[in-house]
Amino acid sequence: MTELNEDLRCFRIGPGGCLTGQVRVPGDKSISHRAVMLAALAEGTTEIHGLLEGEDVLATLAAFRALGIVTNGPERGRLVIEGRGLQGLQASPEPFYLGNSGTAMRLLCGLLAGQRFDSILTGDVSLSQRPMRRVTEPLLRMGARVAAGATGTAPLHIKGGQALHGIHYEMPMASAQVKSCLLLAGLYAKGETCVIESVPSRDHTERMLTAFGYEVDCRAGRVCLHGGGRLHAMPLLAIPADISSAAFFLVGASIAPGSDLCLMEVGLNPTRTGVIAILKRMGADIEVLDKRWMGGEPVADLRVRHAALHGIHITPEMVPAAIDEFPALFVAAACAEGETLLQGAEELRVKESDRIAAMAAGLQALGITAEPQVDGIRIIGGVPQGGRLHARGDHRIAMAFTMMALRADAEIIIDDCRNVATSFPGFVELAASVGLGIRADVVDARR
Ligand code: S3P
Repeated sequence: MTELNEDLRCFRIGPGGCLTGQVRVPGDKSISHRAVMLAALAEGTTEIHGLLEGEDVLATLAAFRALGIVTNGPERGRLVIEGRGLQGLQASPEPFYLGNSGTAMRLLCGLLAGQRFDSILTGDVSLSQRPMRRVTEPLLRMGARVAAGATGTAPLHIKGGQALHGIHYEMPMASAQVKSCLLLAGLYAKGETCVIESVPSRDHTERMLTAFGYEVDCRAGRVCLHGGGRLHAMPLLAIPADISSAAFFLVGASIAPGSDLCLMEVGLNPTRTGVIAILKRMGADIEVLDKRWMGGEPVADLRVRHAALHGIHITPEMVPAAIDEFPALFVAAACAEGETLLQGAEELRVKESDRIAAMAAGLQALGITAEPQVDGIRIIGGVPQGGRLHARGDHRIAMAFTMMALRADAEIIIDDCRNVATSFPGFVELAASVGLGIRADVVDARR
């Protein structure tokens, strides 16, 4: 009998079909990380609803438990956190293992740089190859003592008990993780910490700090705060469905004839809605229904129906608001009429995998013309064949390619899919419930 080995998990998706019905994808990953962190740093009890119970967020939660925070849950998205205030964290005897999560590592690095005690941050193979100097260098300028390895990667060693001071930092790349890291360190710094960005990255940290009663000065292109304030618990913090998880279904329903799908309570923070703007420019039929607010974030229901897509030119300023959605958008481009050209997206090379290389290889394996470029890709739409490809341990590569099967002429098999659980537990079941012919399988290691 083959043993169930999650490391060998693969997806098999039958060709054709369409997506119909009404679903809510799990809670937003970025907001869930921040909800756990800020609730722990607040004074009093915060009840979170709609938390993403994916491995990345559970890694952040485990870190805060190790830092002495008492929690109840999570159970079906409900988590109660007993906040201990900005000075209430305790040293952890063990290093923090943050799995696959860049957000957990970079945000915690800033937060822990301001503590009285030392910490060590580690991660899996992918996270241990991702660039960390982008956070350690500005933190050093704030007076922190944070060391990455010789290659600028994890493990990160943080020496506590340092007197931090605020800095004005012009970001060399659009990165909400760097911005958030510095703002969290800024909570512990003397004076003002200001982060200046030329293209806006996601602003969940700023919004949530404000919701927890911390004064943050947000103006066009800059975010500033003063250290030494306090965060006050929120009785109820509700988290929207993740637009990055919804993106796979927006693309799937757009490319599959006969589709008519409703995605409920999707977060529509304007720094995250690039995927809708890009798909609409490609000709997609996406209706935004019943716009409302949830936990300081705009949400709406999205109705998406099949439409004939055409290729477009995606220019650098369009990239940050869709940064996590490019694997899905490349699938849309592969099924569109004509050429799609993406430029200014070199950040894709340092995500959970090199997403330009991984997507180009997968598209080529399915018979689509895809030319990787240093900072983007050129894709010519066509008819995907069936075939077998590798997700390279990257959750979004795996989920994006499942949607290709809706237009393929034979089965698609995707290897190395276990990390889908980092951001989208229950993906296979939910996708199957709206019509995708998907099943998870375990590859026989003896083959
Ligand atoms: C995130 C920011 C983005 C994004 C990541 C989540 C966050 O990373 O790709 O999935 O929660 O702040 P960068 O800050 O590296 O762009």
